[in-house]
Amino acid sequence: MKTVGIWTIKGGVGKTAAAVNVAHAAALSGVRTLLVDLDPQGAASFYLRIPARLKGGARSLLRRGGDLGALVRPTEFDNLAILPADFSYRHLDLELERRKKPGRRLADRLATLSERFDLVLLDCAPSVSLVSEAVLRASDALLVPVIPSTLSMRTLDQVRSFVASQTRRQPLLLPFLSMVDRRKRLHRETTGACLADSSFLRTTIPFASVVERMGLTRAPVAATLPSQPAAKAFAALWHEIRERLGV
Ligand SMILES: Nc1ncnc2c1ncn2[C@@H]1O[C@H](COP(=O)(O)OP(=O)(O)O)[C@@H](O)[C@H]1O
Ligand SMILES: [Mg+2]
Repeated sequence: MKTVGIWTIKGGVGKTAAAVNVAHAAALSGVRTLLVDLDPQGAASFYLRIPARLKGGARSLLRRGGDLGALVRPTEFDNLAILPADFSYRHLDLELERRKKPGRRLADRLATLSERFDLVLLDCAPSVSLVSEAVLRASDALLVPVIPSTLSMRTLDQVRSFVASQTRRQPLLLPFLSMVDRRKRLHRETTGACLADSSFLRTTIPFASVVERMGLTRAPVAATLPSQPAAKAFAALWHEIRERLGV
């Protein structure tokens, strides 16, 4: 089982869009996939038509002992399951802090699922917190969406130094360009600069209204409009991640 965290300091950069669409692409390619919605807003759960409620909330997510599998819900897609969000996750930091070895608790809990899944994707809320540390600790790779804007590289530098400061476990950093609008000159220029950095995944996710419309369709783009460029881009992103991870 490989775990991929989708995390950055910024909000609104396409983390959840990537989480849901990459998870769906992975499931389509035959990989047994679990999407873990760690954001109390529960957008990933919403997109997959699963209520953002978890029996026992943050406590049962973190409780030691017992298989996390009992909390996993199937989705309407083959090979794709979800651990839904819960509003109590707004206190996930406090819940972690109350535990022994908080940094590794999430990793230990996810390890109980290693027989059932090949891939776990963690959709995170934007913050730098104990939860982020726990996510880094649990992740083999960290998928980092970067919008090609002036501050984007600065944010990525902050992500890099935060990851580097976590000496215990260094996930493979996989930044990728998100919400790219090729009509904007700044986007074209920044995209070029980012892709000159070999750590960036080569696939760029276009700014596309079909992604925005996921709030209405409540489905991954490829499930409703598979021939759209955005659907193909998410599939290509998954294939690159798969190659780098060796899933
Ligand atoms: N590739 C895209 N093209 C157009 N809109 C997008 C794209 N990715 C995300 N969005 C929209 O931008 C907003 C933020 O995206 P979201 O994935 O929720 O970001 P995050 O999880 O980082 O906060 C949402 O309204 C979403 O529909
Ligand atoms: Mg989100």
